[in-house]
Amino acid sequence: MLNIVVCVSGGGTNLQAVIDAIEAGKIADTRIARVISNNRNAYALERAKGKQIDTLCVSPREFETREQFHEALLRAVDEAKPDLIVLAGFLVVIPQEMICRYRNRIINIHPSLIPSFCGTGYYGLKVHEAALARGVKVTGATVHFVDEGTDTGPILLQKAVEVHADDTPKTLQQRVMEQAEWLILPQAIDMIAKGEVKIGEEV
Ligand code: GRF
Repeated sequence: MLNIVVCVSGGGTNLQAVIDAIEAGKIADTRIARVISNNRNAYALERAKGKQIDTLCVSPREFETREQFHEALLRAVDEAKPDLIVLAGFLVVIPQEMICRYRNRIINIHPSLIPSFCGTGYYGLKVHEAALARGVKVTGATVHFVDEGTDTGPILLQKAVEVHADDTPKTLQQRVMEQAEWLILPQAIDMIAKGEVKIGEEV
């Protein structure tokens, strides 16, 4: 059984895709042990509660220092004993200690074809605004392992999506979520659950 922790900050549509894929048997032998958010108002938490999945909010606002927040976040993850940590729309910079402790066991979904439109400042709608501003005809999404950089870890899966001439950032974001993110994130977890992925020796 692959025990996973999913970290969220917003609407949780990627979390929902993982929940649905597990229920549909499209992800092998996997259990969501805990959903963690930095945002008390994240609808993603409601999605988890609706499925009786353990949730925890660890908000930086509740700590005097960033260090204390990092310690609380790491404690919340450790308690769930994850084999894999899934960042699904999680807008927190992962503490170095967490990256070291869970080397090659943290994956992230990014809404572009890395190395395009990624790195510091590229998140959510901003990614699609940049893609439209550059005039690309194809964009997509990437699942990658998380390392010390921002969106720089080994790429696991990518899926391309056409850009339409009349796209707005919102319409493009929706298509990338529907046609790419919600497909490759569950697929990546299924691959890891089946032992089909070897990055280093930890996974
Ligand atoms: C999505 O655009 C996703 O690509 C990015 O965060 C946004 C919100 O995701 N990582 P979700 O609906 O909270 O899963």
